Amino acid sequence: MDIQENVTLKPFNTFGIEATTRYLISIKSLADLQSFTSHPTLSQLPRLVLGGGSNVLFTQNWEGVTLLNELKGIEVVSETDDNVVIKAASGENWHQLVMYSVERGFGGIENLSLIPGTVGAAPMQNIGAYGVEIKNVLLSVDYFDFDTQTVHTLNNAECDFGYRESIFKRELKNKVFILSITIQLSKKPVFNTSYGAIQETLDQMGVKTLNVKVISDAVIAIRQSKLPDPKELGNAGSFFKNPEILTADYTALKEKHPDMPGYTVSPTHTKVPAGWLIEQLGWKGKVVGHTGNHKKQALVLVNYGGATGSEVYTHAQNVIASVKQHFGIQLVAEVNLI
Ligand code: EPU
Repeated sequence: MDIQENVTLKPFNTFGIEATTRYLISIKSLADLQSFTSHPTLSQLPRLVLGGGSNVLFTQNWEGVTLLNELKGIEVVSETDDNVVIKAASGENWHQLVMYSVERGFGGIENLSLIPGTVGAAPMQNIGAYGVEIKNVLLSVDYFDFDTQTVHTLNNAECDFGYRESIFKRELKNKVFILSITIQLSKKPVFNTSYGAIQETLDQMGVKTLNVKVISDAVIAIRQSKLPDPKELGNAGSFFKNPEILTADYTALKEKHPDMPGYTVSPTHTKVPAGWLIEQLGWKGKVVGHTGNHKKQALVLVNYGGATGSEVYTHAQNVIASVKQHFGIQLVAEVNLI
């Protein structure tokens, strides 16, 4: 088990925020996890599991232990003429798993191309983009329970997935370390191009015949055109969730704001794009100190260089207050606040 003391977490969070951790431990095997949990003092400290650090904002230094997930491995577990079952270790890069699948023509996660972060973070917040969520392909998740030091498996239903939600963000929060995910992909994929921008991009690319590769290419092109690359501009993707409001409230708001988009999500609720609400209030492209809202996607907060976590947090609070005051809608952070 590799232990470092008083280490900067700046290289380990895509926001590029300066924060230190008291201890940093690389987890390369199950044995490393067992050594950590058996350690008399380290195991008693607050712990934080970090994958790609792509969905976290450090507002202060972390006085506990950070476990850096470096579990690796992707393998085909079983295969039929129609499907393939793949098991991937949680420390693998998510996009690499998508590329592994796309190169082999396996369908199901091509719409999730270029999402930053690790495989282990994917079920945690049920990652989703362009009409697909990981829950659509996920068979099971293996995790290590810190208290009992045992390995468990949850099937898809047991993960209790919701919109950017799962049991790992709620009941199992801080209690487990996700080891691997098992997904089922299709060798005869049905393509999901229903999300407007995908079809538009495929048309622009002159694509006549659909396959997983062209869809992945289209998604990559859309993401690159709208979302800032964390290597160039610190960010953690969408900072807020898209709020789900009562359809009755949506209807009333729509009277005042006829252009307000909304998607029915249940018989009672409508989802409103937070990016639209934020843009209406003039935040899009706004620079406040070292932070602000991205110029092409108002939902994404960025670090223009040298921003502190508390500066980004204060800015987020101001955006929340402004949306609340104008639309009466409460925005909630999608990013994990530390
Ligand atoms: N919009 C604006 N202004 C903006 C941004 C968005 O008016 O600055 C409106 C537009 O009406 C647009 C609608 O919002 O049609 C939806 O925008 P977009 O397609 O960019 O998606 P989003 O709802 O802002 C969600 C996810 C993204 C995911 C995209 C594509 C959440 C919180 N975010 O964003 O996920 O990539 O859909 O499927 O659900 C992430 O979670 O980090 C993330 C990037």
